[in-house]
Formats: sequence, C-alpha cells, structure tokens
Amino acid sequence: MPGTCVIGLQWGDEAKGKIVDRLTREHDFVVRYQGGANAGHTVVVGDQVYKLSLLPSGILTPGVTCVIASGVVVNPARVIEELDDLAKRGAGYPENLRISDRAHVIFPWHFAEDRALDKSTSDGENIGTTGRGIGPCYRDKVGRAHAIRLGDMYRSTFRSQVEHVVAAKNRVLEVLYPPGEFKPLDASQIFREYTGYAERLRPHVCDTTELLLTAAEEGKRLLFEGAQGALLDVDHGTYPFVTSSNSSGVGIASGSGVPGRHINRCIGIVKAYSTRVGGGPFPTEQDNPTGQYLRDRGNEYGTVTRRPRRCGWLDAVALRYTSRLSGVDMLAVMLLDVLSGLETLQVCTAYEIDGKTSVRFPSHVDDLRRAKPVYETLPGWKEEITGCRTYEALPANARAYLRRIGELVKQPVGMVSVGPEREQTIVVSKM
Ligand code: GDP
Ligand code: IMO
Ligand code: MG
Repeated sequence: MPGTCVIGLQWGDEAKGKIVDRLTREHDFVVRYQGGANAGHTVVVGDQVYKLSLLPSGILTPGVTCVIASGVVVNPARVIEELDDLAKRGAGYPENLRISDRAHVIFPWHFAEDRALDKSTSDGENIGTTGRGIGPCYRDKVGRAHAIRLGDMYRSTFRSQVEHVVAAKNRVLEVLYPPGEFKPLDASQIFREYTGYAERLRPHVCDTTELLLTAAEEGKRLLFEGAQGALLDVDHGTYPFVTSSNSSGVGIASGSGVPGRHINRCIGIVKAYSTRVGGGPFPTEQDNPTGQYLRDRGNEYGTVTRRPRRCGWLDAVALRYTSRLSGVDMLAVMLLDVLSGLETLQVCTAYEIDGKTSVRFPSHVDDLRRAKPVYETLPGWKEEITGCRTYEALPANARAYLRRIGELVKQPVGMVSVGPEREQTIVVSKM
C-alpha cells in the first residue's frame, strides 16, 4: 500500500509544490486530482523557479508518470502553455504526462461566468476567486446538461456539443452582464480553437482511472498532490468562501478513482503562520505591521493572481480540524524562516464565540466571523535559520515552537522547511 498524499491544511499556498517535488523521487506516479489552474505550485531547482498550475509538481523529475486525473478541471490552453514553457527551458519530462479523458474542460463561457458571478455572495462579501473559471466549470459538471469532457473533444459530436452549449450560455451571460457589456460567444471560433488544443494534447489523453487502478493493484508507488488547502474544501471548509472541489484529503478517491485503502501516508502541509487570498473570515489575521512583516519576509503575493495575501498567526484550532479531516499522520512545517526576528509568536489554541471558549472549528461562517482567538504566546528567535540543515541546528525557541505545533495538532512534525530550495529542508527524526 505505498500511497502518499500531500494536503495543504490551511487556505492554500502552504508550499505543497516543494514537498511534492521532494517526495517525487520515491514514487512512480504523481497525481493531481482536483482543482485546476487556480493552483500555483512553486518548485525551485537550483536557480530556476517553476510555477506549475495544472502540471503535477513531479513533472521535473525523470521516470515518473504525472497524471491529471478526472477530478481536475482542465484549461487545455494553460496545459499547453506550461508544456511549452518547460520545453523552452529545456526542463521536465512532459512525455510522462497523462490527462484523464473524463476531466471536464474549461471553456471561455466559464471565465465569463466567473467574472460576472464573483461580485458578491449572498452575504455581501466577495469570494475573490482566481478568475480561472473553476466554479462555473464544476457547476456545469454537476449540472451535466452543459458540460464537455476532454474525451468529448475527439468525437464527431464535439461541434454540435459546442453549438448547443454556446447557444444556452449566450442567453445566460446576456442576463448576467449589464446591458451592452457582453459580447456573444462564437461557437465556430471556439470549436476551431479547442480542436487545435485537442490535437496537441492527444498523445497525453487516456483513461487515467484505469491506469491508476492498475498501478495501485501492481503495488506502484502513488503520490497524490492536493491543490488549495483543506479550509477551502467545498464541503468541509469555510463555505461559501471556498473553492469548488474537495481540497481536503476527502477528495482523493473521488478525484482520482483510487480508493483510500491504497494510501498509507498522509502528509499535512502547514505554513508556520497563516495566509489567505480572497474573501472570508480569518480569525488570526493581522492587518497590521506584524501581518506586513510576514508578507514581506514570506513574499506573500499570489502565485496565480499576484494579489497580496492576507497574513496572520498560526491557528491550531483550524489545523487540528483539517488534520483530522484529511487523515494526516505527519506534518511538514513550511516557511519557518519567515518568523525569524519576531520578539514573540502567538498561536491560536481556542476560539471564544459569544463568551464561550471552544476548540471546535465552527461549521457556519457567521460563527467563525465572531470567533475571537485565544492566544498562547511563545518566545521568538532572532537568528536567520535559512542555513540550518538539522533539527538540532535550529534555535531552541524555534524547536519549542515546532514541538508546540505538534502537541496542539496531535501529529508529529516530520519535516521542516527553512527556504524555497530543495536543500533547505530538514527531516526530523526525533523532536
Ligand atoms: P503551494 O501552492 O502550496 O505549492 O505554495 P506556493 O508555491 O503558492 O507558495 C509557497 C511559496 O513559498 C513559494 O514561493 C515557494 O517557493 C516558497 N517557499 C517554499 N518553502 C519555503 C520556505 O521554507 N521558506 C520560504 N521563505 N519560502 C518557501
Ligand atoms: P494552491 O494550490 C490559495 C482561493 C481563491 C478564492 C477561493 C475560490 O496554489 O494552494 P476559485 O478560483 O478556486 O474559485 O477561488 O479559493 N484559492 C486559492 N488560494 N491557493 C490556491 O491554490 C487557491 N486556489 C483557489 O483565492 O479565495
Ligand atoms: Mg499556490
């Protein structure tokens, strides 16, 4: 049962890409199974920085099959751009890429709907989506009548499918936009454009469900690369300020077709503090000089949209919840180096809601909005730690901080990251 999954335990951007890249060498397959080009996973190799949105972060390692499974919503133009970028840089192994014929395809109407609908939720705050058409594509997938999958693009019915959907979408979009602002979509032009993408991607497209099931049965080592973070999970996250897929560990089986019994290790990726892009409650947010300190040192600007990320203290209530939800058995604490220089560090250990203190993560966003964090204060450290390569080399206060995270989340810290590069990773054997 040599399956591993890597899941972000916060609101995304926990540095999953770095850990997936590192673990790739011990695996035969790396699998993206949900989300789409809303993800931006960074892998640093020497002086080269790769920002991957749809390609699995294993693509830079030889001999590994990289799979975009059925649960991903695929923007084919973006996949091609990423493949071309790798080719231009003489990097990666794109010939190892497989894309599910069951994956749903993002079309121009999805972008148009994303732009029109993100203005506000029913409670007035913007979700602040990445604008990549993710929500509208997943909605069409579940709605079925207007959905097109990658495998459909190779059939003689593709043209009539596009015509059918475009006719319907033009009617809907006309209503969603202010009068005169929406330019109707042209079915023939979209058909031509997407037929070109389909041809280009043809060598990569296959039945990845069958491929992965066979691999799992043969004992191949599978690595599942989560996108976003568990707090953005559509069913269990901070709804409606979430993404449109199951971005916690619960999405692996549905998104890949591989049952959970083939996974025996789940690594929860935790940024040493908290960040969030877009709207929604964030109890430990520091909209003050401390937040700015974290943003500056952590270069906290969105990989996909370049938006400044909201920054705050670590939230152990949320982490304990998402670690249980994803079945995590080990934590990787990332960007610990960003905290150097802070006099003291705060960790949220409980919420006070309407005068009652609780360690339960609220199921309703209104309750989370009213949650006041109860903080525990820990001493910080002055030293820069980007050069540390062993747990023992870290300052005593940094080790105490890591130990406390492990205690509060009730899972061992097995890895610590002190910089973006591959070598800036500490494997913790004993705390
Ligand atoms: P992902 O979406 O979870 O893969 O994370 P992102 O790539 O969006 O954001 C993580 C950012 O932190 C990237 O720019 C990484 O290169 C960088 N990074 C990763 N690990 C570390 C670390 O330990 N320290 C610092 N300072 N940066 C890191
Ligand atoms: P990675 O994989 C951080 C956020 C958006 C928005 C909400 C919904 O790099 O960690 P969507 O476009 O998905 O409908 O937007 O989810 N979001 C992310 N935030 N990291 C991501 O991916 C994200 N993907 C989506 O900012 O708040
Ligand atoms: Mg990211």
